[in-house]
Amino acid sequence: MNFGRKPPTGAEIAAAMRNNAFGTPSTYVAPPPLTPLQQAEREVERLKGTVEDQRVSLARIQERGHPMGVVVQIRESHVVVAVGQQFVEAQRPTNALPGGELEEGCTVRILQEGFQIVDVVRGFDFGTVHEVLRVLEDGLVEIAAQPAPRAIIAGRRHKVETGHRVVVDATMVAVQKNLGSKDNKKHAAKKATGVSWCDVIGQDAAVGAMKEAVEDHVTHAALYAEMGKRRSKGILLSGPPGIGKTLLMKAAATAVAALHGKTFCDEGFAYIKGPELANKWFGQSEENVRAIFSNAKEYFAKTGAPQLVAIDEAESILRSRARRDSANASVDVNIVQAFLAELDGLEDGGIFLVLATNRPEDLDPAIIRDGRLDTKIRMGRPSKGDVEKLALHYLAGSPTVADRELLAHELAEAVFSPHRVLGLAHGANKEREKLLFGHVASGALVAGIVEQAKQVAIRRLKDGKGARAIETADVDAAVEAKYVEALGGSHLDAADDLVRGKLVRFEPARDAAPKTSLIVAP
Ligand SMILES: Nc1ncnc2c1ncn2[C@@H]1O[C@H](COP(=O)(O)OP(=O)(O)O)[C@@H](O)[C@H]1O
Ligand SMILES: [Mg+2]
Repeated sequence: MNFGRKPPTGAEIAAAMRNNAFGTPSTYVAPPPLTPLQQAEREVERLKGTVEDQRVSLARIQERGHPMGVVVQIRESHVVVAVGQQFVEAQRPTNALPGGELEEGCTVRILQEGFQIVDVVRGFDFGTVHEVLRVLEDGLVEIAAQPAPRAIIAGRRHKVETGHRVVVDATMVAVQKNLGSKDNKKHAAKKATGVSWCDVIGQDAAVGAMKEAVEDHVTHAALYAEMGKRRSKGILLSGPPGIGKTLLMKAAATAVAALHGKTFCDEGFAYIKGPELANKWFGQSEENVRAIFSNAKEYFAKTGAPQLVAIDEAESILRSRARRDSANASVDVNIVQAFLAELDGLEDGGIFLVLATNRPEDLDPAIIRDGRLDTKIRMGRPSKGDVEKLALHYLAGSPTVADRELLAHELAEAVFSPHRVLGLAHGANKEREKLLFGHVASGALVAGIVEQAKQVAIRRLKDGKGARAIETADVDAAVEAKYVEALGGSHLDAADDLVRGKLVRFEPARDAAPKTSLIVAP
């Protein structure tokens, strides 16, 4: 170690550096100055790097996901955003956001660290639906909410008015979407059903009762007044599927229209499918029920005539307490209660309800109590003679080889053939009854067989075989095809009817071996 040496002076160090790290002599050549072009190129490279860095960090941000919030207020430099149950102040973005313009009430994605708004999220408008009670100042609206009405942000873009229904975000601060005013008239029949009384075949008693209930108060008004007969509030149509319950409702609609001198009912007739009333949103089903009645009231106030409201598949919403599954129990109770309250609140003649159901035993008994729906019509399956009439009705308009009546007769014979067995019904009193294909006949089945026969004839004619009309063989083939189809069904209801409600066991014919028979509760 050279302790005796003085530390080097600044000039000495500079000289040493010039000589390249203390010792090895070399010459340092300064680079030539950059041309403007080169300078620009360097700058471009540097900027590219910056952009890439930004892109990577943005991707990282996006990967991580961001809280979303609803814009409550836009100020000069800040934006107030509701995130969950909190309000945060985010910086007002200076650049345009990819998702579009920032507006009050819109959903935004924010960068929590810097409370920066990263994007506007479109198409994120789901939430609860509320009715607008009042439009307030400062872009606020009062909405109907539980437990009390609530003032929330309307957002200019929604053009909200009193009576509109709006979708409100989950935190209940702003309108996300305007659904417009409630479409109360959505069930109104907007076109003719094209079905008249005579199109409902083999249901004379049902047609008669319906006709009386719908028409007589108008056509024999004096007589009803003289007898002091109050108007019925409605009819219950029951019976197995496919026998013409819906068809009869449609015929009633035509009749109501005719009473008013029109070809279609418009607001005089509302057709509603039960399952459509049930809504998974809490409270919405009751709301739907109320809407039906308020419509009917409006119609009555306007015309003095009851609106005909047909509710098809009524068991799906007006289920009895005993038949409810626990998952939907409370929803159903509320619908039934809302329904009864509305029905009882109406004066006689304020509405004419027609409920149709395949399972009347599933309906809440309170609904069909006297004074409510006091006319009950049970529609049965067609007899052999009815099947013949139905076949004739559906064969009309198609060429037939034989006499059309004869063909219809053959069709009915084939349906009721003792060889077309669906199974064996065992009754409680040890009786055994053969369930025939004819026992499950319905208007829908006959219409289906005739359609099938036409198809068979068309296939045959495509091969250039036979006559250019429906033949007996076509009908036979069609009946057989529908019979084979029916063999796959369960038919427990029909089997039960066959042994007068005392079915213990049903042995389907589809499986010859009795060991696979269906066991039903005694
Ligand atoms: N009694 C009937 N007379 C004529 N056609 C019928 C009859 N019953 C059913 N049909 C035919 O079957 C179709 C379905 O019947 P639908 O009225 O919907 O049965 P439901 O409502 O009883 O289940 C009808 O549109 C019609 O073509
Ligand atoms: Mg129906």
